[in-house]
Parts: sequence; C-alpha cells; structure tokens
Amino acid sequence: MDHLELKNRIKDNPLPKHVAVIMDGNGRWAKNMGKTRIFGHRNGVRAVRAISEAGAEIGVKYLTLYAFSTENWSRPKIEVNALMSLLVETIHREIETLNKNNIRLRAIGDLSQLPSKTYDALMSGIEDTKENSHMDLTLALNYSGRWEIKNAIQSMVADAVDDKIKPEDITESMISNYLATHFMPDPELLIRTSGEMRLSNFLLWQCAYTEFFFTEKMWPQFTKEDFFEAIIAFQNRERRFGKTGEQIV
Ligand code: IPE
Ligand code: IPE
Ligand code: MG
Repeated sequence: MDHLELKNRIKDNPLPKHVAVIMDGNGRWAKNMGKTRIFGHRNGVRAVRAISEAGAEIGVKYLTLYAFSTENWSRPKIEVNALMSLLVETIHREIETLNKNNIRLRAIGDLSQLPSKTYDALMSGIEDTKENSHMDLTLALNYSGRWEIKNAIQSMVADAVDDKIKPEDITESMISNYLATHFMPDPELLIRTSGEMRLSNFLLWQCAYTEFFFTEKMWPQFTKEDFFEAIIAFQNRERRFGKTGEQIV
C-alpha cells in the first residue's frame, strides 16, 4: 500500500500522543551489506528524518527516540566516537528542517557525561527550536530507565530531607514528575525494529501500559509507511487496562 492509502487508513482516534522508538539493527543491516557498523548508523539517520516527518504529519505530539543507552558506552571506542560525531553533524544539519516543521528538539538522559562537542550541539539545537510547538522530538541519550529511576529517588529523598515532601504524600504521578520525561505523557505505543523483543532499559516506569509493536525490519530500512502501519496496528488493539473486554466496548 502506498503512502497516502496507508495514511488515509489512520483514524483520528485513538491517535497516540506519544510514540517511543527503539531504533535497532543499524549494525546488522550494514554487516549484511558487507559494510561497517558506522555505515549503518549513518543510514539510520535517514530513518530518523522520515519517522520524525511521519509523526509530525499525522499529529503525534511526542516522539521519543532511543539513540544511545547508558550501556552503549561499552561498545568499541571507534563506534562510540563515530556515533557522538554523527550526532553533532546531524543536529547541525537538521535544525533548519526542525524549525520549518515546527518541531522542538529535546533530550533525556545523563547529558553531562556526553563529549563536550556533542553536548554543545545538542544544547544549541534545543535552544534554537525551543519555541516550536507542533511536536516534541526527544532524543534519549546516555539514557537508561534504571538511571532515571535512581535519579528520581535521589531527588525525592533530598526533597524529603529538606521537608519539601513527606513520604506519605508520594503518589505515582509525583514519581512521574521526578522522571526525565516529566513534560510528556507515557507512551501509548513503543516500536522496536530488528526483531529484538526487549526493552533494553528504555522507559521502564513509563511503559507500564504501553502497546508494543515489533518488526523484523532493521532501523535503516524502516520507512514512513512502516510507521503508519504501526499506528494502524495500535488502533486495532484493545487496550483493557486490567478491565474485561466487555467493559471496554
Ligand atoms: C541501533 O543499532 C543503534 C544504537 C544502539 C546506537 P545497533 O547499533 O544496536 O545495531 P545492531 O543491533 O548491532 O544490529
Ligand atoms: C538499545 O539497543 C539501545 C538503542 C537503540 C540506543 P541495543 O542494541 O543497545 O540493545 P541490546 O544490547 O541489543 O539489548
Ligand atoms: Mg542493537
């Protein structure tokens, strides 16, 4: 099915406000073509552009992309360095398009540990797009769910020691507000490419009731049409939140 045909099959309701994506398979895709893993990452950027456009096109408000996990530091140094440089290059190149499409760049993760060039590029991208309001494009960088939860607990305990909060006042929504994702709702849909079916430490708290969409396609092969198919699959799910099917209809 072509682009328009698929897009027309997407209903206005329920449209996920927040879609999270685990962009996986760059390395294997490149290896299958006899190329370097870094070639795979470079081609992955095209999919990032396509999926950002697709999200904005159908009115997704928050798109969160897992770009580099806390655990990814343990990859070979040459690959880590290439990823960090690719980020700098990509952010500089894409700012204009983000502004044209009214997309706001944001980031979650332990950003202070990024190489200074990457950090600076990221901060300038965030600053230059901060007035944009159509969609938030959030990159999870040096991010992990457990890091985020540990951080939230540290802040809450510190606030309790300072008498700003009382342990008995802690609610689930308060915990959400201490997380890096405090500015967005939980993702209704999570997409992972490359056939892997795990969270790999992504949005652990936030995915409590998220619908998962897994595809065998490698990230550099993932297209706008694939994204639309994931949205259509989501719209055909019955989200029960613990109730019975009869209670939903
Ligand atoms: C995803 O692709 C990109 C990052 C994790 C940065 P991979 O690099 O994990 O590719 P595979 O999984 O090894 O094929
Ligand atoms: C998850 O992919 C992290 C990102 C997509 C940035 P990985 O390729 O690092 O995950 P594992 O190691 O296969 O679980
Ligand atoms: Mg991988």
